[in-house]
Order: sequence, then structure tokens, then C-alpha cells
Amino acid sequence: MSFSIVHLSDTHFGVAADLRLIQAVEDLVPDLDARLIVISGDLTQRARHGEFQAARAFIRELERSAPVYALPGNHDVQWWKRPLVPFSPEAKYAVHRKYFGPVLAPTLDFPEVVVAGAVTAHGLAWGSLTFRPGDLTIKGHLPTAEMARVRAVFEGSRPEQARILVTHHNILRGPLTQRTGLAWWRRAQEAIMASGAELILCGHDHHHNANELAGRLVVSCTGTLSTMLRGEYVPVFHRIQIDDDAIQIDEYCWDLETGRFRRGDAHHFARPGRIHEAETVAATR
Ligand SMILES: [Fe+2]
Ligand SMILES: [Fe+2]
Repeated sequence: MSFSIVHLSDTHFGVAADLRLIQAVEDLVPDLDARLIVISGDLTQRARHGEFQAARAFIRELERSAPVYALPGNHDVQWWKRPLVPFSPEAKYAVHRKYFGPVLAPTLDFPEVVVAGAVTAHGLAWGSLTFRPGDLTIKGHLPTAEMARVRAVFEGSRPEQARILVTHHNILRGPLTQRTGLAWWRRAQEAIMASGAELILCGHDHHHNANELAGRLVVSCTGTLSTMLRGEYVPVFHRIQIDDDAIQIDEYCWDLETGRFRRGDAHHFARPGRIHEAETVAATR
């Protein structure tokens, strides 16, 4: 099997948008042979109507090449509406739903892959309370019910399908920040591992990272397509190629001199789950 994904994140439409990057992505994506395009949240800066409208226009353009999967990040949540109210959390997602439909983290089913999302952006919520005041509305968490739903999706998938999870918050420590985006991150990592996911796509950290968790979960954390850069690092997005026994993540890095994205490092990962399954099938024959 062969399946390719373009993984974008953190466009931050609004005051932090960088329209040079947006235009360059729109120009390049048709040549990247993607079967799916994922935007892992923070579509907007302040969850305003006009920002969502700009994000939707961007997505409509990308949909000329492939279906687009998007879910909310912390900037897409109107956290000031009913903060810390554990029930009826709908108000804070109302604007996102207006433009992207009622299901915040839909499931997509392809012959080669199944894609599930887990909402980690809940605004000012009990599950992501922190002692750092500046992080109160930024930190995410992974509710048990979200992962139960994801796990059920993956348990119902077909053996030949790669199981892909999308979240907004980064589940590994960022190379620069040395922090994950999630409260209770060890528990979250365990739940993700137990779900059967073999590839996770996330963002939030604004710094790209292609890595593995426990040798079984490939992590694509891609950078921002906005002006909200970390240090001297340039904007980066990923193209991911999934084959029978391997996953490859190619970086596309913004070149300041040419004003274009260029191919950067490539990261190769074995798919140990698939190799194990193949060995098991062979041994039982
Ligand atoms: Fe962001
Ligand atoms: Fe974020």
C-alpha cells in the first residue's frame, strides 16, 4: 500500500497570518501527490468569524488537490464562554462548528488508512488547569471519552489500514520548549499508545519534530505557517508517505532567500506493528 499526507498546522489566520507562506503552500500542494491534507489546529488567532472565513477559503483551495481534515486548536476555542463549566461546553466551539460542521474531530475512512481525531483544546477547563497562569487557556488535555471513541474507531478498522490519530497539542516535548502541550502528558501518552494508533499528527509547539514514542508510534509534529515562530527557526510543514513496512516524513522548509519551500531532512521509521502482524500471519500458516 502507499498513501501520502500533507501535514500542515497552526495557520493562525488573523493578525499572525503570513500570507506569503499560505500562498506558497497553495502553489506547492498540487505537486505533492497528497491523498489527504491534515491541518492540526490553530486555524485562527482569536476564533473570530473573519479568521474562520479566511481559514475556510484556504481549505477550499487545498481541497482542489485532496480532502482536508481539520480540527480545533486552543486558538480556535472561545474559552471565555462558560469557562470551567464541565457541562454544555458547546458555546466555546460554536464558531468553529459554524464553518467546519458539527463534528469537531471527524473520522475518515480510506482503503489504506483510517483517520481519527481527538479534541485536546478545551479552553479554560478543569482537565488542563495548571499553576502557570499564562498557560491556563493554552494547555490541552485528552479526555478519557475522546480516547475511548478513538480506540473504538481503531478497533473497528481493517487489518490493512494504517491507524492515524490527529490532535492539536504536541504529545512529545518540543525540541526548543522541552514541554508537551498536554496536561497529564504521561497518562495521555499511555492512552494514545493503548488506542492502537501507529501515527499521530499534531502541532501547537510551532517547531517541527519527527520522532517516535516507545518505538511503536510515529509522531509528526509540524511547525507553524504564521509569523509566530520560535527563535530563528523557519516555517516547516511535512509530507508523510506511508508504505507497507515504513513511514517517511519529509520536511518542507521555508527558504528565506527564494521565498519558497524546499525539501529538507527526511525521517524514516519502520512500521513494527505491521512487521509483527506479517510475521504472525506467516508463522500460523
Ligand atoms: Fe499555534
Ligand atoms: Fe496551539
